[in-house]
Amino acid sequence: LGKNMIHKTTATSTQYVAHDAARENAEHGTVIVADEQTKGKGRMARVWHSTKHKGIWMSIILRPPILPAAATQLTLLTATALANAIAEGTTATPAIKWPNDIMINDKKTAGILTEMQAEQDRIHYVIVGIGLNVNHTRIEFPEGLHQKATSIKLETGIEHPTVPLIQQILQYFEHAYDQYMTAGFSPIKTKWESYGYKIGEKIRIRTKHNVFEAIFSGVAEDGALLAETEAEGVQKIYSAEVEWFHE
Ligand code: BTN
Repeated sequence: LGKNMIHKTTATSTQYVAHDAARENAEHGTVIVADEQTKGKGRMARVWHSTKHKGIWMSIILRPPILPAAATQLTLLTATALANAIAEGTTATPAIKWPNDIMINDKKTAGILTEMQAEQDRIHYVIVGIGLNVNHTRIEFPEGLHQKATSIKLETGIEHPTVPLIQQILQYFEHAYDQYMTAGFSPIKTKWESYGYKIGEKIRIRTKHNVFEAIFSGVAEDGALLAETEAEGVQKIYSAEVEWFHE
């Protein structure tokens, strides 16, 4: 993994670069890194602020021999690799907010965007995009994000060079990916839950169809969020916006 590394000083989005490369048969494990993105994108068509040299903006091309329905597991796997790298390489204590936000002290430090080209039961390729805020100071975040977003530097007071962190993320990713391919999702799920943000606490869930409150009781074998209510028992949630209550 990462043997083919494409470095861009600037890119619209490393996701776009990765899609182009994948369509031209870039091999499994190709990594695209940019110093800055002018059109960084987040989940749900949101903007991802990607200031030059302040964070890690990268995309990994994967060609996994799994069913399209299992791709969610790759997102959770990536989150465990990111949390491991932060826990090992910095003094911060990361937590993973389902499905894929990395939180430090209740603020978002990293996000993952997984995109897939597939037909029926075959994956052509998956692109896992990782955005990690490393050296931002307050002024580098737009006003509206100050309550919600943070960086490793803001939380630890320490500036971190990005290259060793990238290497660490890729090492943990490769380890988790190999483990996933040989032993399945179960060890990844255990790891994920060890970093899980607010497991056992009350959450508000917004799906396409409704809004309800439940207890967050962990993740299922297939990566779904487990939400427990008195009326329905434990339900699996695959796609939703989740709000955590700050008490
Ligand atoms: C989220 O909404 O939490 C996901 C954010 C993903 C951002 C990363 S940065 C590298 C890659 N390129 C992008 O344009 N987005 C992802």
